[in-house]
Amino acid sequence: MTTALSNPLREGLRLERTSKPLILTIFGASGDLTARKLMPALYELSRDRRLPAEFTVVGFARRPWSTEEFRERMKEGVSQFARGKIGSPQLWENFVRGIYYFEGDLEDQQSYVQLADFLNKLDGERGTRGNRAFYLSTAPSYFKPIIENLGQAGLSGDVHNTRIVIEKPFGRDLTTAQGLNGVVQNVFREKQVYRIDHYLGKETVQNLLVFRFANAIFEPIWNHNYVDHVQITVAETVGVENRAPYYDEAGGALRDMVQNHLMQLLALTAMEPPAAFEADTVRDEKVKVLRATSLARTGALYHAVRGQYTGGWIAGEPVPAYQSEPRVVSQAQTASYIAAKFWIQNWRWEGVPFYLRTGKRLPKRVSEIALQFRKVPHQLFPSNSSNQINPNVLVLRIQPDEGISLRFEAKRPVADVSMRSVNMDFRYGNTFEVATPEAYERLLLDCLLGDQTLFTRADEVEAAWRVVMPIIEHWENGSAQDLTFYEAGSWGPSAASKLMESGRQWRRL
Ligand SMILES: NC(=O)c1ccc[n+]([C@@H]2O[C@H](COP(=O)([O-])OP(=O)(O)OC[C@H]3O[C@@H](n4cnc5c(N)ncnc54)[C@H](OP(=O)(O)O)[C@@H]3O)[C@@H](O)[C@H]2O)c1
Repeated sequence: MTTALSNPLREGLRLERTSKPLILTIFGASGDLTARKLMPALYELSRDRRLPAEFTVVGFARRPWSTEEFRERMKEGVSQFARGKIGSPQLWENFVRGIYYFEGDLEDQQSYVQLADFLNKLDGERGTRGNRAFYLSTAPSYFKPIIENLGQAGLSGDVHNTRIVIEKPFGRDLTTAQGLNGVVQNVFREKQVYRIDHYLGKETVQNLLVFRFANAIFEPIWNHNYVDHVQITVAETVGVENRAPYYDEAGGALRDMVQNHLMQLLALTAMEPPAAFEADTVRDEKVKVLRATSLARTGALYHAVRGQYTGGWIAGEPVPAYQSEPRVVSQAQTASYIAAKFWIQNWRWEGVPFYLRTGKRLPKRVSEIALQFRKVPHQLFPSNSSNQINPNVLVLRIQPDEGISLRFEAKRPVADVSMRSVNMDFRYGNTFEVATPEAYERLLLDCLLGDQTLFTRADEVEAAWRVVMPIIEHWENGSAQDLTFYEAGSWGPSAASKLMESGRQWRRL
């Protein structure tokens, strides 16, 4: 039997964490994601000596750029968005000499035949030995033609030499996700497939696993005996910006945020301890907990609220209503805010509601997971002060100001027994004093190393869709009357507070 520790290949990868020689082909390389995230992340990896000298990038897009022009654009992107900026010219020269541009049409089979020739030629020039990764950084409508064309051009390779990275969104609903999984699996083996959810690349999200499973004191209370409820919040101050066509088409916050990022946070918070920190054992546990998760409902009433922002103020600046944002189609019913209550029906979480909320144009940019514990069983202190006893709350802050805090009650230093809630706080920035790597750095490196732990498996993405499908069907088949409105700069529609019961409240952040 092979274990994580006895597998020398894996051990070597974890220790060295340097990719083998390889050509990374990015489809959609003239787009926003490549300049803003992918190229800066690759440059940081190169600067940290995580990439071998032979590492090569081929940018594939339609516009007639030369390699020189592509390199210039990428330099602009890296200068603007990389954590450490460009640094020494020599570092940049070393990196850029492995970058090439390939002009092609994603829907034209001939482009892929030519791409195969080009990659073979580069293997000879750069020493990349037939190792390939393909990154689908395009509109999702292109995922199917790209995958099929790669297969027909003989570019699917095998588990040892070829990988494919697929950006979000993976499907529009359960049926389309299953269809896309079918397309992928006709051409690639699951071990070659890296479905990306950049939330999983965030340091604090990964720290959730370390926090839970590298400390003995939390796991015994991580269940329905001690936890009253869980709140997961992903709040943004930005509006839809220029993404309206994509956001409207995708169906707003439910598909853009809940099905992927929030479901991932829920799964990591609630899953059982995996037997090993390995891709399939971790993902098995996530799938199990997602399969036990369902939207709360009472008869025909779903415990979910959707809203859209009207005009308002954020940080002292007036901001327009969703309907007045650029490129929003008139009368768009798109929800920019979702709040919903979920149950996890298993031994650990029976009776513990999980409240999830996410929205645009909220007063603060903040992502966090908060576990609120049960009240003390017996009121020991005199009623005037014991009335103020607040339950303990453990907060895992994902962004900004990454860290963990525990709220507990403390006696105030006065002559009577009066108390106040105080926080015990751990802050990443203060403790480690190093810049946190960008999510894409970690994820790209993992992919290049062949580690799938932080990528979503086929059954996992389907399990997450299955959880949100009842809301999608309910809202898309019903009338739009339950779309509520909230003022930009507020904490969302008032209806969201009605999801809370038994004296619970959304956290004030
Ligand atoms: N932007 C982000 O921050 C972000 C964040 C998370 C996830 N994502 C996901 O990442 C993916 C890419 O996003 P993006 O913002 O980079 O998209 P984008 O800016 O719209 O870029 C699309 C790219 O596709 C290329 N393209 C379109 N049709 C083509 C065709 N027929 N043949 C060849 N190339 C074609 C375009 O090249 P030409 O213009 O040269 O034709 C362009 O390079 C999407 O799936 C998105 O959901 C993006």
